[in-house]
Amino acid sequence: MTRRFHVSTFGCQMNEHDSERIAGLLAADGMEATDDVETADVVVFNTCCVRENADDRLYGHLGRLKALKAERPELQIAVGGCLAQKDREVVRARAGHVDVVFGTHNLGEVAALLRRARMEGPVVEIIEEYETYPSALPVRRAVDHASWVTIQIGCDNTCTYCIVPKVRGREISRRMGDVLREVEQLAADGVSEVTLLGQNVNSYGRDLGSGQRSPGFADLLRAVGAVDGIRRVRFTSPHPKDLSAATIEAMAESATVCEHLHLPLQSGSDRVLARMHRGYTAERYLARLGAARAANADLAVTTDIIVGFPGETEADFEGTLAVVEEAGYDAAYTFVYSPREGTDAAAMSDEFVPAETVRDRMGRLIELVERHALRRYEARVGGVEEVLVEGPSKKSPTVLTGRTRQNKVVNFPPRGGGATVRAEEIGPGSYVDVRITGAAPHWLRGEFVATVAGARRVRTRIPLTVE
Ligand code: 5AD
Ligand code: SF4
Repeated sequence: MTRRFHVSTFGCQMNEHDSERIAGLLAADGMEATDDVETADVVVFNTCCVRENADDRLYGHLGRLKALKAERPELQIAVGGCLAQKDREVVRARAGHVDVVFGTHNLGEVAALLRRARMEGPVVEIIEEYETYPSALPVRRAVDHASWVTIQIGCDNTCTYCIVPKVRGREISRRMGDVLREVEQLAADGVSEVTLLGQNVNSYGRDLGSGQRSPGFADLLRAVGAVDGIRRVRFTSPHPKDLSAATIEAMAESATVCEHLHLPLQSGSDRVLARMHRGYTAERYLARLGAARAANADLAVTTDIIVGFPGETEADFEGTLAVVEEAGYDAAYTFVYSPREGTDAAAMSDEFVPAETVRDRMGRLIELVERHALRRYEARVGGVEEVLVEGPSKKSPTVLTGRTRQNKVVNFPPRGGGATVRAEEIGPGSYVDVRITGAAPHWLRGEFVATVAGARRVRTRIPLTVE
């Protein structure tokens, strides 16, 4: 009988993409995916350790699987990803029923490790570093029309709060030809939107090339943007200190590169930024952002902000509010600082900010962020935007949901202005024009105007209900 696997993902887009690879590898090994953990033969946890209590969550899930494993000893449990890379033997010490522990650098071996564990018993295998960018692994994509494309792994920065360099290793760029071949293959498969992934995409290429000038991120952006069949290019995340004029120019000049920039601020206080090792000041950040806005009319800007970094004073926090006020973000991901063992900031424990102060600051920050977000979303009302349809909305099967080029979610009924279209014309992956009629801080409402001429229609595997 075909063995069935389930992959649970914690963490960032990089991890979600890694999970697609794990799924691709297991499918290539003859297994079948299932959503049902209870009946799966193999359960893989792809873990994260960047923030908060990822450990507690993982061990909670593992604890619940203990009874299942006792009932069905042939069930295999594997733990991979950043937390596994960091904790190694600790995982099996805390959860002895785990069969396989693998790290961020040997994900490609997951199927072989599971097979080995069936014959030899539990396996813990972590390697320290990749020597070069690993060759492409099979991928089982979550959707048909959009895809992540890794352009770089690891990170050479030393942000003092961040565990990533420790668990993902040093920065390695993928060869430009390999990236382009993957994008061309995806386009041939019907993918029209790609998101380029890296911890610090702007330093792409620094480690490549000898002799001739090595390609930079701007070159890659232009080349990916020109691949036939690709209508939208996104990327995440650039580091503000490396956001070059060349990248800003490439964004502006490539029609397919979307009008959205995710530019992590982290803090608006120069003192905190220096202690974080971020390599820029608030003024320089705003100058880079200003240049990006000047070159790209209609740019949506989002960010990441950490509240309660060790030693953050009220004046420091007000510095963050001032930058948020000036930047006027479309959205911000706000995080409570959480010490990561082994990072420099975790050693500043005598300066930890009291939880109550952090809560209060977080409330004030979110209020300001939402005020600007609402203003930015309301500014879209009345306009017509191109929307890439994702499918029926989760709340109502008769409403469609999709995203604008600025990456804003839009919900709309598939008719309007006297026009009614057949469901298959606006299935997931199709492009439609939508008139925006309402706004909230995290989504837009609209009405269908027309399908976009020239956009390819993608046959859909997802059933769609249309009233
Ligand atoms: N505590 C809180 N937030 C963190 N981030 C990274 N490390 C930490 C930490 N120790 C946030 C940063 C980063 C995002 C991916 O996660 O804002 O940009
Ligand atoms: Fe972490 Fe800084 Fe690297 Fe981002 S740039 S992954 S925050 S060390």
